[in-house]
Amino acid sequence: PIIKMAFGLTDLEESIAKAYGISQVIVVPGDSDTSVFTKKELGRAGAAALRKYVSKDDIIAVTGGSTMAQIANNLAISSSMKGSWFVPARGGLGESVDMQANTIASIMAKKTGGKYRLLHVPDHLGEEAYQSLIQDPQIQEVVDAVRSCRIVVHGIGDAMVMARRRKVDAETTRSLEAEGALAEALGYYFDRQGNVVHKMPTVGLRLEDLQRIEVVIGVAGGKSKGEAIASVLRHGQEDVLVTDEAAALEIMKHV
Ligand code: G3H
Repeated sequence: PIIKMAFGLTDLEESIAKAYGISQVIVVPGDSDTSVFTKKELGRAGAAALRKYVSKDDIIAVTGGSTMAQIANNLAISSSMKGSWFVPARGGLGESVDMQANTIASIMAKKTGGKYRLLHVPDHLGEEAYQSLIQDPQIQEVVDAVRSCRIVVHGIGDAMVMARRRKVDAETTRSLEAEGALAEALGYYFDRQGNVVHKMPTVGLRLEDLQRIEVVIGVAGGKSKGEAIASVLRHGQEDVLVTDEAAALEIMKHV
C-alpha cells in the first residue's frame, strides 16, 4: 500500500473504476511492454484477484495468451480452488499451443489442485464444420459447462497484433482495419466505442453470456494496449480490471 500511495496508483485505480463503472481496478507499477518484472507482477495480481473472487466448486472459464500464462504461473495449491473446474472460454482461436486457452486451463487446474475440461476444436472453422461440431454431444457438454461458469478471467489484446499472431486471413484483416478494430478479447474484435466488429467462428462463451456471469476479470497491461483496454471497458461487461501503470495512464486518456 505504501508503494502504491507513492506512485499514486490508488488514485489511478479509483479514477478508472469511476470513469468506466467497474467494481474493482488493480494497477501494478511499471509497463509490461518493456519490463518482464511488471508482466510477472500483472500475473501475480491477476492470480490474487482470482483467489479473492473464487468460491467453492466454481467453474472458471479462462482465455489464452501470455498474460494468462503468467497468472497460471502464480497459482498454487489452494483449498478454495480444489473443487474448481477450469475450462477454456472459447476453443480454436489460432494461438500457438503454449498460449491456448486449453493449455492455460489445464495448467491452472494442475497448479491449484482443481479439475479441468477441454474444448477440442480445430482452428479456423468453416461454417459447415462449425455447425456439425456444435451438435456433437461431447462438445456440447463442455460448451454448456463453459456457459454456466461463474467467473471468467480473460486477456485483452491490440486487434491488429492479435490478428497477426493468430494468422487471421488477409481479407478478414482488411475488414477489421476498415471497421476500425482496436481491441480483441474472447475472440471478439471491438472498435473504439466498444462495439463488436468481428467474431471468430468457434464455440464456447458468447459475449451475451457475460451479462449473467457473476465475475468478469480482465487482465492486460502495457502502454501499447491502453487504447484497446479502454475500448473493451467501454463495451461495459467487465467487473474487475487488473492492469499496469503504463496502460492505466493510457486508459484514462481515452475516457
Ligand atoms: O485476447 C487477448 C490475448 O489473449 C492477449 O494476449 O496476454 O499475450 O497479450 P497476451
